[in-house]
Amino acid sequence: MALLEKQMQVDQENFTTRNGQSLVALLQEVQEQYNYLPEEVLRELACARGLSLMEMYSVATFYKSFSLQPRGRHKIVTCTGTACHVRGSEKVTEEVSRMLGVKPGGTSEDGEYSLESVNCLGACALAPLVVVDGEYHGNMTAARVAALFREQLKKMKGQSAESFDKVIEEKAIAGCSCARLLAGEKN
Ligand code: FES
Repeated sequence: MALLEKQMQVDQENFTTRNGQSLVALLQEVQEQYNYLPEEVLRELACARGLSLMEMYSVATFYKSFSLQPRGRHKIVTCTGTACHVRGSEKVTEEVSRMLGVKPGGTSEDGEYSLESVNCLGACALAPLVVVDGEYHGNMTAARVAALFREQLKKMKGQSAESFDKVIEEKAIAGCSCARLLAGEKN
């Protein structure tokens, strides 16, 4: 890590509000509650804790784990690092994107799913890799990822599964082969 970047990180980690609370910890609490950092909440907190809005944003934008945009209840991450790329991660990401109706970096309209693509998750032996709500799934192909989501959605339950089934049906009508396969499996 470059010296300047490291120094910035130290500064950001040491950033405290006037009552001595770590700003990073405070933002983590907000993100846990809302799933992202809403601007109105940042404004209120800045005012209440004696910080400027700019100071809040400087920390919020430094860490990739913070999001300034609403995130879905379920977080799906596909890896596009070199090892995953050479083993076909692009097709896997495309399939996930088609199935959920959301592009990498976005969140589905119903607020259920967020899709992120990252460079190397540190488990290259399992390439191509997909992470669903923190669970790692290796050796993915477009067909396997479709089957995986069927399994995962049994765990996600209720509205999520219904919402996903609706997406699958719509995608099947639109001609997505994996969605057709899944819709067929349901009958
Ligand atoms: S390149 Fe995907 S886990 Fe390393």
